[in-house]
Formats: sequence, structure tokens, C-alpha cells
Amino acid sequence: MQKTKELTVFDTLAKMSEVHGTFAVAEVEAMIKTVKTLKKNPVAVVLGSGPGTATIAMLAARPDIKVFSIDIDVARTELLHAKQWGYVDRLTQIQGNSYLVPWNNPQVDLLFVDACHAYSCVKRDNAAWLPRLKDGGIAWYHDYGENDGMWLQVKAAVDEDLSGQEKILNVCSSIAFRWNPSQWKKLQLENKGDV
Ligand SMILES: C[S@@+](CC[C@H](N)C(=O)[O-])C[C@H]1O[C@@H](n2cnc3c(N)ncnc32)[C@H](O)[C@@H]1O
Repeated sequence: MQKTKELTVFDTLAKMSEVHGTFAVAEVEAMIKTVKTLKKNPVAVVLGSGPGTATIAMLAARPDIKVFSIDIDVARTELLHAKQWGYVDRLTQIQGNSYLVPWNNPQVDLLFVDACHAYSCVKRDNAAWLPRLKDGGIAWYHDYGENDGMWLQVKAAVDEDLSGQEKILNVCSSIAFRWNPSQWKKLQLENKGDV
């Protein structure tokens, strides 16, 4: 008798990647690998939920992660997939502008930035969220690169604000850094000196 192939969350992620094109399979794999390296009970924040490919990859990577996912629109597809895989209890969806939503939750282990891609938005996301990252946490940016006008704007904001931070990953249009708050403070002081 022929066995029915069981659908895994990885099949779903590959399909999401193909259908929505927001996060490549190689990025999904890199995300899962990276999330596995975080300390116990990590907190992740996704700016720009979209269809939820990155969110579902994080939730699939380990059972103790909590993900807060922020989007200016209602992220129905993300919620649907979270329900499908039994992840709803570990997902908090917040509707609002990524750089304006208040934050009274624990410090963040992993920040994933993929909301408004304009230079001014990424700068505002950085100003709001980087200080909420734990020392040694991870700041991950999507659509960083040179193939597209908006990607260049992401790149410009990231290159400025993450200057001097340790780069830990560069896969497709994803780039990630190990967060060092002292380097950030140093940069703020230097920039203050420029005005
Ligand atoms: C490229 S999609 C995100 C894809 C998603 N990260 C994934 O892995 O599938 C960008 C999302 O950012 C949202 N967005 C755009 N500007 C925003 C803002 N200022 N604040 C919050 N979300 C925003 C859009 O509504 C859209 O859903």
C-alpha cells in the first residue's frame, strides 16, 4: 500500500516561500539554524509580518520561542499558518506602525526588520527597536542589497546604524549582526558630534 506523505512545517515554509516570494528557502534554513543558537525561552520581534514566512520559521525552529509580530495591516495569512501548526499560543500579533508601537515586554533576543523599506523608516525602526535588543542579541535585516531601489535604502540605513557591529550572516538579501549596545552608544555620540 502506498503511504501518504505527511505534510511537514518545512513543506509549508517552502510553499510559502514559493507563493509569496518574501523569504527564500535558504533564508528559512538560515533562520531556523540561527534561532536554535539563542538562549532558553527567547523573545523575537518581527517588524513586517506579511504572510508570516519568517515568523513561522522562527516558531518552527524551537518550542520555547515567543514571537511578537508587527504589521501595519492585519496579518491573516500569518495567523492562519500559526493556527495550522499549533503555534498560536507563542505568537502575539500587533497591528500598527512598526516604529511607533509601544513595547512593555522583555528585552529582545532576535529582531527581524522587514517592514517599510524606505531609508527614513528603517532609521526609525532602528532608533525604536535596537535599544530594546539584549546585549549579544541578533539584529536581522531583510531586503538588504543592491538589486533594487528599496533594497538600497535598507542597505544605506543598515550600513549607517550597524556600523562596527559584528556581522554574523549574509544569505540572499538577509544580513544579521550580533548586537553590541556599547558600539551603538559610541556611534550615537560620534553622530551627535557631527551636528
Ligand atoms: C515584505 S512584507 C514582510 C514579509 C514577511 N517578513 C515574511 O517573512 O513573509 C512587508 C510587510 O511590512 C508591512 N509594513 C509596511 N510598512 C510598515 C510599517 N510602517 N509598520 C509595520 N508594517 C509595515 C507591510 O504591510 C507588509 O506586510
